[in-house]
This record gives sequence, structure tokens and C-alpha cells, in this order.
Amino acid sequence: MSWLIKVPATTANIGAGFDSIGVALQLYLSLKVDQADKWEFVPFSDGMEDLPLDEENLIYQIALQTANQFGHAQLPTSRVEMTSDIPLARGLGSSATAIVGGIELANCLLQLNLSMEDKLELATAIEGHPDNVAPSLLGGCVIGHYDKNLDWINVPIHDLVFLAIIPSFQLKTKEARAVLPEEFAYKESVQASSVANVSVAAICQGNWRLLGKMMEKDHFHQPYRKKLIPHYDQLVNLLKEDVYGTFLSGAGPTMIALTTKEVIDRKLIEWQASMPELNWLPLAVENKGVLTIQQ
Ligand code: HSE
Repeated sequence: MSWLIKVPATTANIGAGFDSIGVALQLYLSLKVDQADKWEFVPFSDGMEDLPLDEENLIYQIALQTANQFGHAQLPTSRVEMTSDIPLARGLGSSATAIVGGIELANCLLQLNLSMEDKLELATAIEGHPDNVAPSLLGGCVIGHYDKNLDWINVPIHDLVFLAIIPSFQLKTKEARAVLPEEFAYKESVQASSVANVSVAAICQGNWRLLGKMMEKDHFHQPYRKKLIPHYDQLVNLLKEDVYGTFLSGAGPTMIALTTKEVIDRKLIEWQASMPELNWLPLAVENKGVLTIQQ
């Protein structure tokens, strides 16, 4: 038997929704799975050269962990062809796609019949927070709270362009989390949560202007992380007249501007010319989530 597993990329936080809000985007990790005599991961895209191609591969590790959790000691040996257009270590959820891909891989090979709830709980427990894995699984925007169990709301998003502005350097999540404070004073946390609360309401009502305003008032992570992104203020200032708002995608270094197709058609070439060292990539929201097809 063969399967095709297609997992969308994600952007997390969307400003103040730190570790709790994420959106699936139309970039994908695709896995073509065929049963074989030994485990083999075959890279088909640039940037995958350094990934382990045997049982050290993260996708295999997650698949084995899933198998073990559901009472299976081993996985049937397989050949997995990997194709991806998601830049690695850029804040677009590439490791979350590997986690979701690994869970789906075990689900197919062992016919586990995992429910969406099972997959969400498992993926979030592995990642530690739901903001990338949940939208990769469900599609659209997911607002989640994780504390032993996951509570979540899924909101589809239409007619909005997420303009990803991707630098050539990588930033590891561990490094970007190391600059965050250990503690937060009571008064500031009340302010910070009010920004996040209004952000959620704005997402649910499709009030992008308000969401844009809120995302630039985040207290939780952007004020600490912006020093890791040398062009942060220059980019926000370049875009601010024309877009709803700009935020740091996940742990960065990619930044994303919320905007419309009309603005992209009118301004993208000018922006690219102003900051040509960055890769400008307009993306639509993927409202469907992971797709697994038996072939
Ligand atoms: N919410 C996470 C962060 C996303 O900002 O660190 C990356 O794992």
C-alpha cells in the first residue's frame, strides 16, 4: 500500500497569541510513503540535504513514538519521499509539519484510526504548545489552550493575504525563546492579556484592521525578540501605511504582513525593490489542514 500525506505550514502567535494562536498557510511538506525492505527517507527539495535519511529522521522518531503510545513496538519498514516548499528554521512551522507528518505516518502504516482529538493531543504534547501543530492538523486559524488537555476553537479565514517576508538567515526557536523573560508583573500581564483578548475577538469577527493594531501592541514576545531581527523596525515602517499590521511569524525570523490581494498587486514590486535582500512571499490561508490519501 502507498499513501500521500500533505501537511500545511503555519504561522504562530499572530502578535499577542503567544503559544496559543496559529494559522495554516498554503506551503506544504508532502510525504509519499511506500512499504519497503528497510527504512529510507528520500529528500526531493532543496534545503533538506542535512536531514537524517534513516531512523534518526524526526518524522520516523515521531511515528515510532505514536506507534509505542498506541501499543505497537515497531513500524512496518517504508520508503518515504519528502518534498517541501517550507523554509526551515524561519518561523513557518516546519518542525510542526514533521510532527504532524510522523503521527499521520504511524496512523497509516498501523491503521490506528486515530481521531482528530487523539492527533491534536499527541502533537501538542510533543511540541509543548498547540499554535503550530493544531492549524497544521485542522487548517484555518486555531486558538488553543493546553494544560494536560487541549481546548480549541477553529476559525476559517478567507480573502486575506499573509505576506511572508523571509530573511536569508535562520533562527532556532530555542534561541528565540531564550531572550524571553522568566516572569511578568501582574499589571503588565493584565495589559498583555487584554491585547490578546481583543486580537481573538478581531479574528472571530474578521476585523483585520483591529487585529493589525493589536498585533503591534503585543507584550508577550515581540518586544524581546525584535533585537534578533535587524530589519524589524525598517520593515514595519515600510509597510505600515498599506497593510493591516505586521508581526513576527512564530519565533521568527520571518515577518508577516496581513494585507489584501489588491494591496499586493499595487505595492509588492515597490517593496521588493526597497528591501531586495528579503524573500517576499504572498500566501493564502489553507483552511483544510493535513490531507492523507491512500493510493
Ligand atoms: N509560539 C512559539 C514561539 C512558536 O513563539 O516560540 C514556535 O515554536
